[in-house]
Amino acid sequence: MGMVRQPVIHGSDSEEPRGSGPQPPGPPFGGQPPGDGGNASAFGPDDDHFDDELRPQALSEVIGQREVVKRLQIMLNASRKRKEPLGHLLLDGPPGLGKTTFATVIPKELGVECTMTSGPLLMAPRDLLPYLTNIAYGGVLFIDEIHRMAPVVEEFIYPVMEDFRVDIALGEGLNARTMSMKLKPFTVIGATTRSGMLTAPLRDRFVNREHLDFYTTEDLAVIVGRNAKILRTEITPEATIDIARRSRGTPRVANNLLRWSRDFADSEAQGKITTEVADAALRMREIDFLGLDKQDRRYLQTVINVFGGGPAGLQAIAHSMNVSADTLEDEIEPFLLRCQLIQRTPRGRVITAAGYEHLRLAPPGPQQGTLF
Ligand SMILES: Nc1ncnc2c1ncn2[C@@H]1O[C@H](COP(=O)(O)OP(=O)(O)OP(=O)(O)O)[C@@H](O)[C@H]1O
Ligand SMILES: [Mg+2]
Repeated sequence: MGMVRQPVIHGSDSEEPRGSGPQPPGPPFGGQPPGDGGNASAFGPDDDHFDDELRPQALSEVIGQREVVKRLQIMLNASRKRKEPLGHLLLDGPPGLGKTTFATVIPKELGVECTMTSGPLLMAPRDLLPYLTNIAYGGVLFIDEIHRMAPVVEEFIYPVMEDFRVDIALGEGLNARTMSMKLKPFTVIGATTRSGMLTAPLRDRFVNREHLDFYTTEDLAVIVGRNAKILRTEITPEATIDIARRSRGTPRVANNLLRWSRDFADSEAQGKITTEVADAALRMREIDFLGLDKQDRRYLQTVINVFGGGPAGLQAIAHSMNVSADTLEDEIEPFLLRCQLIQRTPRGRVITAAGYEHLRLAPPGPQQGTLF
């Protein structure tokens, strides 16, 4: 009693009214026993290595994904009002759409600590244990690429997420016994590019699930304009749209194209990104009007030239292109599917008529079989 803990609040407070009546400033999750000293904020001054300068720092800075943001606001408000940890949250969607951004913004909004790890690093329960024993009440454990956790870790994490309990097996044979340890309630935020690869029991342990979809050109143009300001670069409104349109619906791509256009403008023009400058810069990177780059077009060409337009298996395409199947499935195919340039069928990938058209090729017509 009487212990007053300083709240760990990062960034400015949200624009949401904090309930009714005056509320004393206090820790967002009051009443918990003081931490054990091992809980220095994960958002210390050395956080730049995972937080680039263009990444939104608060939910109010997040552009687009309006439905997702609205639902998150509600979850956050409820958690704050009840002073209870947020329910476990799973974020899925193609690379570069903001999974890590959301996962880092949420703990900041709640004023709680965030620890980050990644599926491939979790080979055995002992890899996860230090995170669990150090986590504070209401804290966030962010597990990136959660679909790549080892199966033994997955089994281990079920009781952790459900009952905040760890079961540790001690000894072997006759002496074997299980020790259970209680944890402070906390929140797991998982991110994955492949929600389909998660097992049903793991997926079900996330009460909140949000799917991030590709962004509209308008939203991307706002992101480009905002980030040009942060990068102190002059850009015309038309040029923000030109860059946005060729960003494959992806903020990370938009940021990369903006940085490249800025380099191009500084080196080849007077430093200002106009439509002409953006156009010349993007042409030099061989990005076409849909935003496809060389690798995307190579995918289409490979399926057409090697596999007669498909159906072709993912592994076979990957071998032909000398690219990993994961890269194709995570980074290349989602946008081609979205543009309806390819189709995924049970027998493999097929190039659509629009896909042929995009490469200015004629699709194989029905007259093919008339030779015989
Ligand atoms: N909603 C958004 N508003 C503004 N900028 C965004 C938004 N989402 C993402 N960005 C920008 O795009 C970059 C990439 O986003 P982020 O790292 O969150 O993607 P990701 O989904 O985690 O990708 P990956 O699957 O590769 O880990 C961020 O650094 C940020 O600058
Ligand atoms: Mg990420």
